[in-house]
Amino acid sequence: MKGIILAGGHATRLRPITKVTSKQLLPVYNKPMIYYPLETLLAGGIKDILIIVAPENAGDFLKLLGSGKEFGAKFTYEIQDTPRGLADAFIVGADFIGDDNVTMILGDNIFEDDFESTIKNFKSGGHVFAKKVHDPERFGVVKFDDKMNAVQIEEKPKTYLSDYAITGLYIYDNRVIEAAKQVKPSARGEIEITELHNWYLKKGELKVDTVKGEWFDAGTFESLLQASNFIAGKSK
Ligand code: TTP
Repeated sequence: MKGIILAGGHATRLRPITKVTSKQLLPVYNKPMIYYPLETLLAGGIKDILIIVAPENAGDFLKLLGSGKEFGAKFTYEIQDTPRGLADAFIVGADFIGDDNVTMILGDNIFEDDFESTIKNFKSGGHVFAKKVHDPERFGVVKFDDKMNAVQIEEKPKTYLSDYAITGLYIYDNRVIEAAKQVKPSARGEIEITELHNWYLKKGELKVDTVKGEWFDAGTFESLLQASNFIAGKSK
């Protein structure tokens, strides 16, 4: 199992803080944001990790994280020239993934959960994680049937679908590379990861679990502050 942290993007919602630096380098309480998704992968037993960054701040990530030795891991870096969408991680990362399976985590996602046994036991297909939220329209949303099987997934649905957002940790088998190459840009010009979930869902090969602990997508002022307060509370 290889790991990818997707840490590029526009970060327009955090302007002007992100005018001269990357969102994933901003502090969440006492650490740079990217430490949290990195620790989630490391705790999941993944030691071979690709960090995808935007060209403007690539040097800062290298300075902060280095070779990975300090973390008992090996880090590789790739530049995403333009933020083409989340599914692009598997195209930019195709050489790095090689013939392996891959766990991708978003560089601004903070999980209070342990994925070690899930990652260890993963065999094939796709495995993603949902969390009940009050603002599902911001996310990819999954609808479950009464047995908690996923039946429908939609990106930022305009009409209510469910309260379950798909969070930013995705485990896929190697076919994700080919699936990502087939995705056409959406109306907002991005290749959407929701299309990859649906690619597996249609084949009956997508597992959707719920996140047990807290989860933050620290991409807005409000959620960044909430994440910092949560970590501060846990550190006491
Ligand atoms: P988003 O929060 O969806 O997008 P963004 O970071 O560009 O922010 P905004 O909407 O405020 O402009 O991205 C989720 C994560 O994925 C975040 O860590 C940035 C990263 N990302 C990339 O690395 N490349 C991309 O092409 C996109 C869309 C996001």
